[in-house]
Amino acid sequence: MATPVKVTVTGAAGQIGYALLFRIASGQLLGPDVPVKLSLLEIPQAVKAAEGTAMELDDCAFPLLSGIEITDDPNVAFNGTSVGLLVGAMPRKAGMERGDLLGANGGIFGPQGKAINDHAADDIRVLVVGNPANTNALIAQQHAPDVPADRFTAMTRLDHNRAISQLAAKLQVPVTEIKHMTIWGNHSATQYPDLFHTEVGGKVAAEQVDQEWLRDTFIPTVAKRGAAIIEARGASSAASAANAAIDHVYDWVNGTEWTSAAIVSDGSYGVPEGLVSSFPVRAAGGRFEIIQGLEIDAFSRERIDASVRELAEERDAVKSLGLI
Ligand code: NAD
Ligand code: LMR
Repeated sequence: MATPVKVTVTGAAGQIGYALLFRIASGQLLGPDVPVKLSLLEIPQAVKAAEGTAMELDDCAFPLLSGIEITDDPNVAFNGTSVGLLVGAMPRKAGMERGDLLGANGGIFGPQGKAINDHAADDIRVLVVGNPANTNALIAQQHAPDVPADRFTAMTRLDHNRAISQLAAKLQVPVTEIKHMTIWGNHSATQYPDLFHTEVGGKVAAEQVDQEWLRDTFIPTVAKRGAAIIEARGASSAASAANAAIDHVYDWVNGTEWTSAAIVSDGSYGVPEGLVSSFPVRAAGGRFEIIQGLEIDAFSRERIDASVRELAEERDAVKSLGLI
């Protein structure tokens, strides 16, 4: 059997962790031929609960699961790790925006970024799920100067999947008919789900829906879906978030022609270099690259710019908090 790949999950005892770990151990994160070794990072008070989850993982007798480590020390958790899923952070409650979590959660990601810098494997890939995900990814990346910046990403795949699902329902087509969906900007209410580059049956999606629906229903429904879930469930999304994390990493490692991911900007599409912003990306050879050459009309420009402005404000806020 191949050498197991170490995968670290932070916040392993939380609700996303519970939905995520079993899918990783069953081979859905890296593929059916890749054995994994799980490292579960938690705060000391939640280590016992993580131990309980580990007992359940044992009880599944997953053929691909070669071992489980449980720790409250990031230096141990990230030692030799190839995939870091940074989930551990406080979720927002009803009435909060994700940016309201910056102060509470931002402090988690500097030390974890440093531990990744000092101890992770050379092929480390990081996905930040904990909110506000884009700016937390920026904080972690800034604390890992020895790791290539393109190894740090944040999750907008849930928004991407939500957008596909909403559009498929509107047009009454299977989700598999929808190609080239794109989320731009921040994983927040300012995000811009773009139907001008999305294709359905080979034709531009924006031309198949009325503009009022696109502007007043589609965009806000996708952008505010997280809040709607909190309102309905009394807790933030968990299984769909875990599913999106699996999709993100699987595609990153195995390749895809087109998806959405928040990555460190190289200045493309007028997004200032260094911000962690969502783009249309392809993945090949284990790397995301921004899909270039898309025409951006005034409607899209205004919305991309608004979300990117918010990312710049979040970056300035964490700078003034001394987090980067
Ligand atoms: P949860 O409260 O159920 O679990 C969070 C876990 O993180 C807890 O077990 C807690 O003990 C742990 N934790 C806190 N600080 C930690 C640290 N320093 N190191 C390790 N573990 C730590 O929350 P959840 O529902 O699992 O959500 C986790 C995060 O994911 C939240 O910030 C939530 O807003 C975010 N989220 C993001 C997306 C997205 O699309 N990007 C989607 C859903 C949820
Ligand atoms: C989501 O989009 O469901 C998560 O980011 C949780 C939230 O706070 O909305």
